[in-house]
Amino acid sequence: MSALLLGDTAPDFEVETTSGPIHFHEVIDGHWAILFSHPADFTPVCTTELGMTAKLKDEFDKRDVKVFGVSVDPIEDHHAWIGDIKETQGVALNFPLIADPDKVVATAYGMIHPNADNTATVRSLFVIGPDKKIKLKIEYPASTGRNFDEVLRVVDSLQLTAKHKVATPANWKHGEDVIIVPTVSDEDAKKAFPEGFKTLKPYLRMVAQPQG
Ligand code: BEZ
Repeated sequence: MSALLLGDTAPDFEVETTSGPIHFHEVIDGHWAILFSHPADFTPVCTTELGMTAKLKDEFDKRDVKVFGVSVDPIEDHHAWIGDIKETQGVALNFPLIADPDKVVATAYGMIHPNADNTATVRSLFVIGPDKKIKLKIEYPASTGRNFDEVLRVVDSLQLTAKHKVATPANWKHGEDVIIVPTVSDEDAKKAFPEGFKTLKPYLRMVAQPQG
């Protein structure tokens, strides 16, 4: 199977989760979603990642992002592991953890990289838009825990650029100046950004982050 690419429709599935059974396309309908895999239950880096994600629930809610974790472990293991996450990370799991022992989700999303590990998923993360298209994907090896501040940052960029004809520069953070996309003419840019913009080069025009 060829790899999923940006712009592709996120594959649908029906699975068991720690919050009960879900039909993925039904629960994400009209919302932003994040689907992220971890290699295995009862492992140290994964424990910290799930704890961090749970701590950031308010931030994901603010952005209307529904978050789903997944690994190829059975649901009984997920339930048994949740207690450890609460005990060691000081936060209860507050988002669904998908049990994928038959590797239905892992295979559909290309989360198993045989030359890294033949059986467990790597750390894949997909951001899916309200139109169910894949907007962004990142992949980390098992040994490197993800930076969830970066995950929130890219969601901010994706949501902003979905709404306005702007792009976000290197290391951009919410609230900082953005770039007017080159396909917008100066004439249209003056209408869209009446408070003005700064032209550094004809193709590099900076403007305050649009609000709303
Ligand atoms: C971890 O989550 O700590 C981990 C999982 C698989 C391999 C290495 C580390």
